[in-house]
Amino acid sequence: MTAIPLAKGSIPGLGHVPRLLRDPLAVLRSLHAEGPLLRLNIGTMPIVVATSAATVNEVMVKHSKAFKKGRLFEQMRPVVGNGLANSDGSEHIRNRRLIQPMFYKERMAGYAEVMRELAETLADSWSAGQQIDVDEVMGSYAIETLAATLFSTDIGRPAVESVREDLPIILKNMLRRALAPRFTDNWPIWKEFDRSAVRMRSVIDDVIAKTRASEPGNGTDLLSLLLSARDDTGAGFTDEEVRDELTTMLFAGSETVASTLSWAMHHLAEHPEVERELLKELDKVVGDRPVSFADVPQLPTITRVLDEVIRLHGVVSLMRRTTESVTIGGYVLPADTEVLLSLYALHRNPELYPDPDRFDPDRWLPEQAARRPREHVVPFGAGNRKCIGDKFAWMEATITLATILPRWKLRPVPGSKPPTESTASMAHPARVPMIVHPRGES
Ligand code: HEM
Repeated sequence: MTAIPLAKGSIPGLGHVPRLLRDPLAVLRSLHAEGPLLRLNIGTMPIVVATSAATVNEVMVKHSKAFKKGRLFEQMRPVVGNGLANSDGSEHIRNRRLIQPMFYKERMAGYAEVMRELAETLADSWSAGQQIDVDEVMGSYAIETLAATLFSTDIGRPAVESVREDLPIILKNMLRRALAPRFTDNWPIWKEFDRSAVRMRSVIDDVIAKTRASEPGNGTDLLSLLLSARDDTGAGFTDEEVRDELTTMLFAGSETVASTLSWAMHHLAEHPEVERELLKELDKVVGDRPVSFADVPQLPTITRVLDEVIRLHGVVSLMRRTTESVTIGGYVLPADTEVLLSLYALHRNPELYPDPDRFDPDRWLPEQAARRPREHVVPFGAGNRKCIGDKFAWMEATITLATILPRWKLRPVPGSKPPTESTASMAHPARVPMIVHPRGES
């Protein structure tokens, strides 16, 4: 492991921490040029960073059996439990098999209806000339939409309300809370976080108990499906497992979609020519009727916009830990090595994406996209841990844009600065203030 080249800029005792604190995204990008596999020192703790498509693929796909999720996920276990994103080995395989059918095509049409209704409600709530903080609006919209598909019944209504209130507080502080030392557990800084975590948990438990007592087999929402799922032995999920899976979906599927939508609104406002093309296509395919599940694949311009947004502003990095000795990029990593996969570096590689910081959805035209090797395009991960909600996310984002954009033209508040990337798990925008103008107004 010591043979793996040390990334530049390590300071004795502190390692790369000062560099990372200053500008983590810049560090991730610069590492790409230094080599496919590097060592970073977080204080005195070494972590290995895979920066090339080949080394990332070796970890995520080729040698996936030699890895588990690792330190970050262990620290988050008290908050998110042991849901799909956090479980490993045979438990993960079993649960993934049980959950997968919830994302089958037959189910998606029902979710699409819920998504369209909520997108219409959002569009109805705006008035001409109103200023909105797109990042905040999309944050609470994505939570509400996901919560409404998770618990679509009347029983679930209080849970949707609570999740909308409590989840943003949890998401904002989750990483800091998970990484904070145990002796700070009773400090007042965590009071609001802990209160929200306890309340959300108890509301979800309540919905699970009530739904179980009703006839969950009849429901088409995710909760009913989780309650009626059975493995080969006929066993289903316990209430605790159902809660962990619901919480995991809420954590994995709300901020990611909100960030994608906010950046899409920003880039479309900056590129009215792309917006015009998108609206023309919508007019041709959908016209005046409400957008439906069947329309989604007929709207390639929106897909290209989303693909480009996620290339630029997707999940920045993923974490793993080796469970056994394994060779990656020609170097032997012993068991218990922490590994970081830098997707940000991959998706801004200038050799594959000339002028990589430029927003250009045409990069995803079929003939251009076909030239790019598959392992280079991994915004949803790859292999056995690939995002289970990828199609759900793209459908939600497509239906939202297709419902809002024909009615409203969103433009930046005059004088506002372009959004900067904040560096949580997604490179989500710090603030996106915009004015909504009715379409047709110049
Ligand atoms: C733009 C939106 C989204 C992005 C960019 C995204 C990205 C990702 C990525 C990169 C992973 C792999 C993590 C890893 O390998 O460590 C992942 C896993 C996961 N995502 Fe998503 N995701 C999105 C939306 C969603 C949605 C909407 C849901 C649920 C409805 C969801 C549920 C999950 C779950 C449960 C996992 C864990 C899968 C497993 O380990 O088996 N995601 N996501």
